[in-house]
Amino acid sequence: MAFEEFRAQELEGWDERAGTYEGLTARATTQAIPALLVSIRARVGIKVLDICTGPGFAAGAADAIGATAEGIDFAPSMIATASTRFPRLDFRVGDALALDAPDASYHAALCNFGVFHFTDPGVALGEAFRVLKPGGRYAFSQWASPKESALFGRVFGAILKHADMSRVPPSPDAFAYSDTKKCRQAMSEAGFREIEITPVPSIYHGPADGFWAEFLQFSVRAPIIMRQQTQEAAAAIETEITAAMAEFAQGGMLAIPMPSFVVSGVKPE
Ligand SMILES: C[S@@+](CC[C@H](N)C(=O)[O-])C[C@H]1O[C@@H](n2cnc3c(N)ncnc32)[C@H](O)[C@@H]1O
Repeated sequence: MAFEEFRAQELEGWDERAGTYEGLTARATTQAIPALLVSIRARVGIKVLDICTGPGFAAGAADAIGATAEGIDFAPSMIATASTRFPRLDFRVGDALALDAPDASYHAALCNFGVFHFTDPGVALGEAFRVLKPGGRYAFSQWASPKESALFGRVFGAILKHADMSRVPPSPDAFAYSDTKKCRQAMSEAGFREIEITPVPSIYHGPADGFWAEFLQFSVRAPIIMRQQTQEAAAAIETEITAAMAEFAQGGMLAIPMPSFVVSGVKPE
């Protein structure tokens, strides 16, 4: 499989983060859940699959408005955490690129910040399409590109300036789907129609001190890169990022724009 080493490191990273995710990464990712639920027209009685559920927040929110929600994730610790947090929902270990569900079995599916991590996002869109009933809606969220994102611009600007990327396992471009034209094209190729893009003005909130240490726990891709760097390169990256983030500090807290958007479409009847 292409990107095998990258996928193994992503799985290991997310599995290790189940315990800290709620107080850290979820502070940013949950900001897109309302737009996802509007995009899939979440309502009482529909059956919804939350793909890459993590600790289950999107499934929990769909359940709260009366849908019958299930969640899948490839990280067993995430599934254990989701099952503890939302005990009456069905969560199971599964792969977004090979969903363990029959064709046409859900009224809606969503994926909150999963596409960023896939070895082949087009396959995941095809799988979401397959498991939807005709007329069903699918929505996914994705981060805006470093050019449009104060947070990712500064973080990946410093990494690409100082890191030796040839030491890092080959990986797909995390920001390929930050191009909304590409998203429309990929959704259309998967078979979706009525494709809509909804901007989400997400913000990273955290303590002003120790941004970089916290971000290395927030993210999985950044530590995959950083583990392979020399001490000198790592120090240069940390110094540059710490200085850049000072601009966003107020009252001991950081509020750093990291915009995102939701892409959605309908499986034709
Ligand atoms: C950034 S987290 C998003 C979690 C959650 N959706 C949320 O709302 O915060 C990405 C999640 O995708 C999962 N993931 C990544 N690749 C996957 C794959 N191929 N199949 C299933 N889950 C995957 C990870 O284990 C992780 O829980």
